[in-house]
Amino acid sequence: MTPAQAQQRIAELRTEITRHDELYYRRATPEITDPDYDRLKRELADLEQAHPQFSAANSPTTQVGDDRTEGFQVYRHRERMMSLDNTYSEAELREFHARLVKLIGREDLAYVVEPKVDGLAVSLTYEQGRFVRAVTRGNGVEGDEITANARTIRTLPRELTPGAGTPVPDVIEIRGEIFLTLAEFQRINREREEAGEPAYANPRNLAAGTIKQLDPQEVAQRKLEIVLYGCGFAEPREALPATHSAFLAQLKAWGLPTAEKFWTAQGADAVWAAVQALDQVRGALPYGTDGAVVKLDALAQQREAGATSKAPRWAMAFKFAAERAETRLRAVTIQVGRTGVLTPVAELEPVALAGSTVARATLHNRDEMARKDIRVGDWVFVEKAGEVIPAVVAVNLTRRIPECVPYVFPGQCPACGTPVVQVEGEVALRCPNYECPVQVRRRVQHFASKAGVDIEGLGEAMVDTLAGKGWVKSVTDIYRLRRADLLTLGKKVELSTDNLLAAIEASKGAELWRFIHGLGIAHIGVAAAKDLARRFGGLEALAAAKYEDFIGEKKVSRIEGIGATMAQAIIAHFNEPRNRALVGELLALGVQPAAPAAAAAAGTALAGKTFVLTGTLPTLTREEAAAKIETAGGKVSGSVSKKTSFVVAGADAGSKLEKAQKLGVPVINEAELVRLLGGA
Ligand code: IVH
Repeated sequence: MTPAQAQQRIAELRTEITRHDELYYRRATPEITDPDYDRLKRELADLEQAHPQFSAANSPTTQVGDDRTEGFQVYRHRERMMSLDNTYSEAELREFHARLVKLIGREDLAYVVEPKVDGLAVSLTYEQGRFVRAVTRGNGVEGDEITANARTIRTLPRELTPGAGTPVPDVIEIRGEIFLTLAEFQRINREREEAGEPAYANPRNLAAGTIKQLDPQEVAQRKLEIVLYGCGFAEPREALPATHSAFLAQLKAWGLPTAEKFWTAQGADAVWAAVQALDQVRGALPYGTDGAVVKLDALAQQREAGATSKAPRWAMAFKFAAERAETRLRAVTIQVGRTGVLTPVAELEPVALAGSTVARATLHNRDEMARKDIRVGDWVFVEKAGEVIPAVVAVNLTRRIPECVPYVFPGQCPACGTPVVQVEGEVALRCPNYECPVQVRRRVQHFASKAGVDIEGLGEAMVDTLAGKGWVKSVTDIYRLRRADLLTLGKKVELSTDNLLAAIEASKGAELWRFIHGLGIAHIGVAAAKDLARRFGGLEALAAAKYEDFIGEKKVSRIEGIGATMAQAIIAHFNEPRNRALVGELLALGVQPAAPAAAAAAGTALAGKTFVLTGTLPTLTREEAAAKIETAGGKVSGSVSKKTSFVVAGADAGSKLEKAQKLGVPVINEAELVRLLGGA
């Protein structure tokens, strides 16, 4: 490469990397994977080293990525927040140790090896032991102040626990990482896809996007978590432990969440063994990890080693290569969701990837497919984004066959043929037909799901069967199912039919939030449904609510946990006459949601309800069950009559069960009883 060529490539790389930094740090929507990004950066660093005449102070190799965005106050860190040098190679990790041995002049260097948490960096300030501020890394010198959003993190202590070990310093900046668990990430993405919003590629991006929401009420709906691992400024500093491992123990003693496990290791071999040990267990950690961070343990040695302009010399990140597989895209199928959103799904030649066989992967939406130019017949790379969910990340263009043509997204709903529409401001295409048979099925399934009114036995397959028979055309039809019809479904269905009918009956008294969530209002997840249940106490009250009930003057939210977007979604939902009618129908069919105030107050949850116990319950004795019912305000009777609210049946139940069935009294099992008791 001539110097002129190098100069040009350096310029290209800087532009390209700066663009990716913007996408990753500011917008939380990266276009390339971390390893691809790291490769670009490494290429640039190598060129700059070979041609020092072209190095520049503002090159992305000498600066940390900048996450500052509009709408936040910037705050100056008392001590700079640095980045980490990283490597994918064992040899380079060993060189890192060799460098330090030379620099510090001793062989027996001790290290801490800890998870590299794939979240976003944050600095927490505690003054006199009280949490006062959270600031993002920003450009390392100053970051965005996100204190209000950070306060929604349930595991973040407002006060440090004094006592054990080091006294709490007057002022301390504690560094760590904000993250989302995989389960929470999947839950939110499902909701976003249903709402026609683009899904986030991995938990890190979603956590980063969440912490930069301007409304803390919206942030509170997503269960952010935090893990702390470092110290910035501290005053007085002398009292702090002399090693990093002791500091981690001290963080824990102060009551801060820290990594569940770290390793101490002396010398390169032990460090490498610890890195591999971490790789073995990291799948079980609550956060995604993209590597191990290796740090000198003795703080005195850290000081001796010092830092470059952007990263300490005493630490190194070893990154695990993302597992990636190449396979053929056989076909693209279109899934229709509960709200009509069409999601393209890749049907792949099955391929082994990170411990499982992958045959399907999401393609997110039409725009995303077009951007990656994914065509049927292509060889594609599949990766587990966020370590678990398979996604098609790119096409191997070198293997493209000429016959491959760009994918044309269908103009009609594959389920009902209705022309699809693109709602303004949304990425997704939708089937606008409310009666679309697939939408109906998915609505019913959502209503009956575990996070809805939780009807056991009414999962996807059963809903499809019932809808196929024409018995279930809407959510309310669940409560109109007839035993005689269900019995025609097969030969040995008597028991399962009765179980299903009992579960349906019991669901009429499910907690109010389950109904609210089950209605499938856009943006309303379980947490918001619970907040709404507490405030409104009934479905009708919620359906009649006005915007002013949610959002007061100066856009101030009146209901804890409910922001403007949610308020608008609720109003829009109940402005639809059919959605209001549905509430009326449910109530007319005997649905009586358990209001949270009553359920919470001891002694009233089962007020006015009479129970008959029969058979052997799996865990409770009859006496224990009776005691629980009575403490919750219910009555227990010895014989079944029309006035009996529920018969609780266990194994070998006899005549009482028969009588209940004859009289149409709902029969529930122990688990359903426990639920009525409010999980007591
Ligand atoms: S130490 C001055 N420890 O990775 C030392 N960083 O790629 C810098 N990170 O900016 C931080 N887990 O946001 C450290 N156990 C860990 C970490 C960690 C994740 C992040 C951190 C840093 C980035 C560098």
